[in-house]
Amino acid sequence: MIKIAPSILSADFANLGQAIQAMDQAGCDYIHIDVMDGSFVPNISFGPMVYQAVRPLTDKTFDCHLMVDQPERYLDMVAAAGADIISVHVEATKHIYQSLSMIKALGKKAGVVLNPGTDLSQIQPILHLCDLVLIMTVNPGFGGQKFIQASLEKIKQLKVMREEKGLDFEIEVDGGINFETGKACAQAGADVLVSGSFLFNQTDWAKAILDFHSHIDM
Ligand code: DX5
Ligand code: ZN
Repeated sequence: MIKIAPSILSADFANLGQAIQAMDQAGCDYIHIDVMDGSFVPNISFGPMVYQAVRPLTDKTFDCHLMVDQPERYLDMVAAAGADIISVHVEATKHIYQSLSMIKALGKKAGVVLNPGTDLSQIQPILHLCDLVLIMTVNPGFGGQKFIQASLEKIKQLKVMREEKGLDFEIEVDGGINFETGKACAQAGADVLVSGSFLFNQTDWAKAILDFHSHIDM
């Protein structure tokens, strides 16, 4: 079964707690949390104090996507705030091996993220450290952008790499995901779909999550 991770970047921030509880009730798998620093990406979202505040409201996995430069500076804080999966961009650090090792040492699941312009060869040496690989299917920084079709080939190649190396990390996709693009990603090999604007814009979130499953699951 495909996993659905609503991106709370598209939630009504005036009612963030309610939105998270409603997505929990609607049957999502992860809560996707986009942390932006205004440097690695041209937008600023929220930091650990915000998701620490909503952590008691749900038992769902907090899937924390760090769009920040030198993420190793924040890993302690992110872990303490209640993240379960912590993903760092390979483009954001000179020390990706160390960053992933630090996340594991904190007892959290480690993820690596690739921008659309970054080749899979960049992460080949550290794939064995990953619990999750996140393929960006838009340029990071904003919700509501158009899915980049060329991402599908990258997902397929990553799935082959996983098989060849005998690894078991999850493949997650993020950006421009709707029923159609989500299905194409799942067919290419994605295990987890992040959905922001498309999912949050539906009037019935439980129905929308069920519809993702009925479109995609075998
Ligand atoms: C973009 C973020 C995404 C974003 C996705 O940088 O990483 O998680 O919320 O939003 P949609 O689904 O609207 O493209
Ligand atoms: Zn994200």
